[in-house]
Amino acid sequence: MENRDAKLIEDILRLKRQRKAIILAHNYQLGEVQDVADFVGDSLELSQNAAKTDADVIVFCGVHFMAETASILCPDKIVLLPDMHAGCPMADMVTAERLRERKREVPKATVVCYINSSAEVKAESDICCTSANAVKVIESLEAEKVLFVPDQYLGHYISTKTNKEILLWPGFCLTHMRISPERIMELKHDYPRAKVVVHPECRPEVIAVADEVLGTGGMCKLARREEVEELIVGTEMGIIHRLRKENPGKKFLPASEQAICPRMKLITLENILWSLEEMTPQVKVPEEVCAKARSVINKMLALG
Ligand code: 13P
Ligand code: SF4
Repeated sequence: MENRDAKLIEDILRLKRQRKAIILAHNYQLGEVQDVADFVGDSLELSQNAAKTDADVIVFCGVHFMAETASILCPDKIVLLPDMHAGCPMADMVTAERLRERKREVPKATVVCYINSSAEVKAESDICCTSANAVKVIESLEAEKVLFVPDQYLGHYISTKTNKEILLWPGFCLTHMRISPERIMELKHDYPRAKVVVHPECRPEVIAVADEVLGTGGMCKLARREEVEELIVGTEMGIIHRLRKENPGKKFLPASEQAICPRMKLITLENILWSLEEMTPQVKVPEEVCAKARSVINKMLALG
């Protein structure tokens, strides 16, 4: 570790104690950010952790909708997002206004939003889900017709696992679009013993060549299994840091070295420290939106 990083980390940890703060980081964060965090996880685990923490301040190292979810679940806490430009482009592919229009066209459909969506969109939905529980959430519904927003590929994947009718929204993740079945086939050829795991945000032709389709939390659990020695990993590159750190001696091969989410990488040790010093930028959701969005998230969390 460079001296510069060691000093930054020391200052972050000191301020964190002074502010009674907790640092939560998503699995796609830069390695040095994951290493300074109190907890690293997927979207579901991060919201569960935010909901139960007794810290006064949550420093959220992830993208905007994740910090917003933490703020919705903990309205009395200060939620810091060290760079306000860290938004999820897929979440921005649906707005509350466009969702209201679509709901008028399909009034009988139950609306399920992916957690990768704004608080306003959540407030317009019936329940939300993450990649870890999407099929379980859909199966828990009485409705036979579901409008799923915004990720068409996760929606398509769910439709292959349920008998319910899933109406798709044309959103997608630019980062997961970079993962191709051709490259995975090349890697499989070079590493014939490797298992292939991909994220459900990948395109159907990528999912078709995978052994397992899992969210990032599921990927971390799979990697720990004794029989898994080599893994081709079809998701954002940041997770490779955690996989290698937790499983020394095992081989992790990114399905695409271009699968990098630029917004996730906006969070750095420097802006975490600055954010804790200045107690800014804060993410706060207006109370009317917050109350509706909270019940939508809590319905999901109640499913366990
Ligand atoms: P996970 O919930 O699987 O961590 O996914 C979040 C995400 O943004 C995937 O691109
Ligand atoms: Fe959004 Fe894709 Fe980045 Fe995940 S990887 S935060 S879905 S843009």
